[in-house]
Amino acid sequence: PFVNGTELFAAARKGHYAIGAFNTNNLEWTRAILKGAQELNVPVLIQTSMGAAKYMGGYKLCKALIELEAEAMNITVPVVIHLDHGNYEAAKEAIAAGYNSVMFDGHDLPFEENLAKTKEIVALAHAKGISVEAEVGSIGGEEDGVIGEGELASVEEAKTIADTGVDYLAAGIGNIHGQYPDNWKGLHFDRLQEIADAVAQPLVLHGGSGIPQEQVEKAISMGIAKLNINTECQMAFAKATREYIEAGKDQQGKGYDPRKLLAPGTQAITDTFKEICGWMGTKSVK
Ligand code: G3H
Ligand code: ZN
Repeated sequence: PFVNGTELFAAARKGHYAIGAFNTNNLEWTRAILKGAQELNVPVLIQTSMGAAKYMGGYKLCKALIELEAEAMNITVPVVIHLDHGNYEAAKEAIAAGYNSVMFDGHDLPFEENLAKTKEIVALAHAKGISVEAEVGSIGGEEDGVIGEGELASVEEAKTIADTGVDYLAAGIGNIHGQYPDNWKGLHFDRLQEIADAVAQPLVLHGGSGIPQEQVEKAISMGIAKLNINTECQMAFAKATREYIEAGKDQQGKGYDPRKLLAPGTQAITDTFKEICGWMGTKSVK
């Protein structure tokens, strides 16, 4: 079921729907996401941050884990194995490990360097049929050590980076990683529209957790085709695990079987996945 993301996301932008890009951390998360995708019969992108890949034991291991788990689960829907917010070295490593897709996140570099390195990664990746995501402007907040100022993407820079031939483009449009503060001003739709008019590629909305559904739907109608979700699943996992233990369902602390302890949280990730895919209109596969 493994494919790169180029055609999948292009079809999503054209069809005005989005495909979920969900972060994985381990075996249970991988299984939970694959299960949700298979049950809904929708394509899915599973991504590892640099931190998650390090935690799990490297890019080769992540790729093998996702592939073997999908095989064991008889997964038939399209699955894209993707590197999330990779620096230059990480993007090259994930390409060498055979990921289907990589994000080169050069937001913290001077623009010319971001441009030059994006070009290089595009050439390396495309030679192996691997898709590339790049970033302009930045995503506010922090994800797994990657910190952004939330700088609004410039239309000109978005167009210049898109012209390198990247397959999808992440732009800072007021979105933030992690939880949104109460005084958050919302997505910058005017800028999204300008970028969508200037760039033909599918656009990526990072920091998908906690954005009100109406805003996500509007963003999708304007050209967002990849919706990145991490925190929402983390919170669902933590909540279900805590409730299970606090309700004494672990036999008042006497039940220590890890497979039982991890089960409610794992199911909560699948439920979250299915709920979010439901409202972003992801099209089922035939
Ligand atoms: O790259 C991953 C996403 O942008 C996740 O953001 O944790 O706020 O959902 P989130
Ligand atoms: Zn992100």
